[in-house]
Amino acid sequence: MTQKDFIPKLEPKNISPGEVSWQSPSNIALVKYWGKKENQIPANPSISFTLDHCRSTTTLKYSEKDKNLKTEDFEFDFYFEGKPKEDFKPKIQKFFQRIEHYCPYLKDYRFEIYSENSFPHSSGIASSASGMSAIALCIMDLEKKLYPDLGEEYFSKKTSFLARLGSGSASRSIDGGLVVWGEHEEIEGSSDEFAVPYPHKVHETFRSYKDTILLVDKGEKQVSSTVGHDLMHGHPFAENRFKQAHDNLKALIPVLESGDTTEFIKIVESEALTLHAMMMSSQPYFILMKPNTLQILNKIWAYREETGIPVCFTLDAGANVHVLYPENHETKILEFINNELVVYCQNGHYICDRVGTGAKKL
Ligand code: PMV
Repeated sequence: MTQKDFIPKLEPKNISPGEVSWQSPSNIALVKYWGKKENQIPANPSISFTLDHCRSTTTLKYSEKDKNLKTEDFEFDFYFEGKPKEDFKPKIQKFFQRIEHYCPYLKDYRFEIYSENSFPHSSGIASSASGMSAIALCIMDLEKKLYPDLGEEYFSKKTSFLARLGSGSASRSIDGGLVVWGEHEEIEGSSDEFAVPYPHKVHETFRSYKDTILLVDKGEKQVSSTVGHDLMHGHPFAENRFKQAHDNLKALIPVLESGDTTEFIKIVESEALTLHAMMMSSQPYFILMKPNTLQILNKIWAYREETGIPVCFTLDAGANVHVLYPENHETKILEFINNELVVYCQNGHYICDRVGTGAKKL
């Protein structure tokens, strides 16, 4: 499927006003997406674990505009946690503009969008992946009502495609387990346009992996990921970095199949540090890690060395640390976190999450 397949060709059905609700999870990348081309096309492929507890719940209420009074504008109101949120509207407006070509019915309707997150909104956890994918799911649910013949595969691919146009990493939040976005020669069906479920064998260990998110800094990021992606244009290490992401994803295939946590750790931690190394070597350069981020990384390394327990970290574009480990070590790792890491978390806060099953309709 390519983008031209996502333009509806039939006449839409007439439908009564109604509402749809979806819950969509966040995800954490193991091989990172950092750098993009025009139209949110990633500069390299990425793979992520879909999370379970960090979710956005979104309701889309829709009613057709009066045919005589149709305006050439998108008409919508946005509510976050029950209250109107004006400062989020330009983001949605931009999203609607980007997807209008593929969803030509958008201007025929008036919308009310209600969204809330299961995680505290000031946690420093990016909510764009779960938030944008939840809106994309609601729009596709409406599209399914307008074009009832739309198949399951089309639904999930177009949803991921639309989510991608909202926020790149949101494309990986529709399916559960491991998800790949971006074309890779060893991943059949992989595409730059939308994410697909990881098609190869996955060892039991990685199907129930745990992710405890240590909230080091809940403040607003100093540099947005949009700006960060942009700084990969003309970055002195860009080409090598993009190649490395291809190589790392290829190297992960046998690791994910065999359950080899030692090799998994080498790839995942290197990816996290490389992401931040790209930020530190951009022009202008910037640092999103905080002193406590480094304290945690050192503690994790010392604990792993001492106990042999295969616990590791990854980072997204911020100071928070995702602690990744196999489910059977949960008790020990939570003890370690409570004894040694909680002091580095803002107000002692962390979120326990795990690999999840993907978005669901409510
Ligand atoms: O989806 P964006 O544009 O916010 O970019 C997210 C980039 C990282 O989280 C740093 C990496 C990734 O692949 O999710």
